[in-house]
Amino acid sequence: MQATKKASESYTIMTEMVLPNDTNTLNNLKGGVMLHWIDVCGAISAQKHCNKVVVTASVDNVSFQEPIKLGNIVTLESKVTRAFNSSMEVHIEVFAEDIPNQTKKKTHEAFYTYVAIEANGKPVKGITELIAESELERNYFKTALQRRQLRLVLAGRMKPKEATELMKIFGE
Ligand SMILES: CC(C)(COP(=O)(O)OP(=O)(O)OC[C@H]1O[C@@H](n2cnc3c(N)ncnc32)[C@H](O)[C@@H]1OP(=O)(O)O)[C@@H](O)C(=O)NCCC(=O)NCCS
Repeated sequence: MQATKKASESYTIMTEMVLPNDTNTLNNLKGGVMLHWIDVCGAISAQKHCNKVVVTASVDNVSFQEPIKLGNIVTLESKVTRAFNSSMEVHIEVFAEDIPNQTKKKTHEAFYTYVAIEANGKPVKGITELIAESELERNYFKTALQRRQLRLVLAGRMKPKEATELMKIFGE
């Protein structure tokens, strides 16, 4: 396995059109469809980083900022922010474009966690390390540890007192 990889190597862009089957009775894109598209885009980034099959371990911080309308073009962009032992955090941004009206806006943002797994379903230990280059990538890399500790505490996988990076947010 490659020892290190740049964050930019996991960059993924995915484009979808909102069709009638994807919408609710208000003609807005259904939240579940959006979560599915985000999951697929993020999983591709995670696979590009570790060159392994991945499974989704957690979904957090999905903000639904604006409804997306029937007929809009949805662009999803994702990148791995940090790789841990077998898991990776991926940041995904979503943009909706109304081509006839020539408008494009950011509508969603999310962090998903994926785990690289072997054929037997067990996590791969010691995946490729991620190198953050740009200032934004370095910022996401740094804060990924706090988000990881928060989600592991909430999942009951880490004791709050062990979440030392998270405590720093509260000045403890
Ligand atoms: C995710 C999964 C592989 C973890 O397996 P496990 O036996 O608990 O393995 P481990 O305890 O060694 O954890 C493996 C990694 O998952 C991470 N993880 C497990 N649960 C997590 C959660 N709720 N949130 C974030 N990360 C989590 C651990 O922190 C660990 O990361 P690290 O190796 O980078 O430190 C296992 O729970 C699984 O297969 N879940 C189902 C996945 C799935 O079907 N997804 C589709 C969604 S419907």
